[in-house]
Amino acid sequence: MKLLTDKVAIVTGAARGIGEAIALKLGEQGAAIAFTYVSDSSAGKAKDLEEKLTALGVKAKAYQSNAADFAQCESFVNDVVKEFGKVDICVNNAGISKDNLLLRMSPEQWNDVLNVNLTSVFNMTKQVIRPMMKAKSGSIINMSSIIGITGNAGQSSYAASKAGIIGFTKSIAKEMGSRNIRCNAIAPGFIETDMTGYLKEGDAAEKYRSSIPLGRFGSGDDIADATLFLASDLSRYITGQAISVCGGLNM
Ligand code: NAI
Repeated sequence: MKLLTDKVAIVTGAARGIGEAIALKLGEQGAAIAFTYVSDSSAGKAKDLEEKLTALGVKAKAYQSNAADFAQCESFVNDVVKEFGKVDICVNNAGISKDNLLLRMSPEQWNDVLNVNLTSVFNMTKQVIRPMMKAKSGSIINMSSIIGITGNAGQSSYAASKAGIIGFTKSIAKEMGSRNIRCNAIAPGFIETDMTGYLKEGDAAEKYRSSIPLGRFGSGDDIADATLFLASDLSRYITGQAISVCGGLNM
């Protein structure tokens, strides 16, 4: 039995990396997938993912939509409800980093990271709760980070955005719990994607790897499995939590 038969899931920023792994995982479990990408250069990868999902036997559609733009999120979710009929699951995955020491960080760098990582979660959550309230159920999953819990030198904007996601997640869980809408966050550790190209090799990579109790970096699939759990009824009594998926790095 598949875990997400007849469910409709949104995944933001899914043309590559963790978002792609999540879209495929939820699709494998029977969910129809509406996903976003932002830049023209990702259109090819988005098309490929659409085809992979369709080959799994689920309905899938890519939308070009900037998660940091409120109006674009509004029309995206309206389009999804028109096309797919409802929204059961929303995975707010889109994110960027523009790391710099505070002494050198520009207001533009700060604002870009806060807008793409945190305001995007407000933009999307505000839209998806309407169809979820109508359906009297829903699961919202926000991609935080271990850095939002521990902080990191050179990552103040990223850490602030990811810590903000945890506070937002808990607040929405309290606001929406009585409507049977759950809201949780995932805090990944070091996951090998384009965002973390510096993990591929060298002394720095070895230093990071040796600090992880499970002895390896994570994969998109590791995060996708946790997302599947939070998206499905297996987690029906879990809300307002930030689940660390980091190989034990947070201890
Ligand atoms: P990635 O850079 O490979 O993927 C991010 C995706 O978000 C890309 O497809 C990008 O086009 C999309 N995106 C960026 N800005 C967007 C916008 N304004 N609107 C819509 N889409 C947008 O990075 P990765 O590693 O897959 O990260 C996914 C999420 O996981 C991010 O939120 C990231 O902060 C978080 N994360 C990643 C970790 C890692 O070690 N890779 C660790 C902790 C959290």
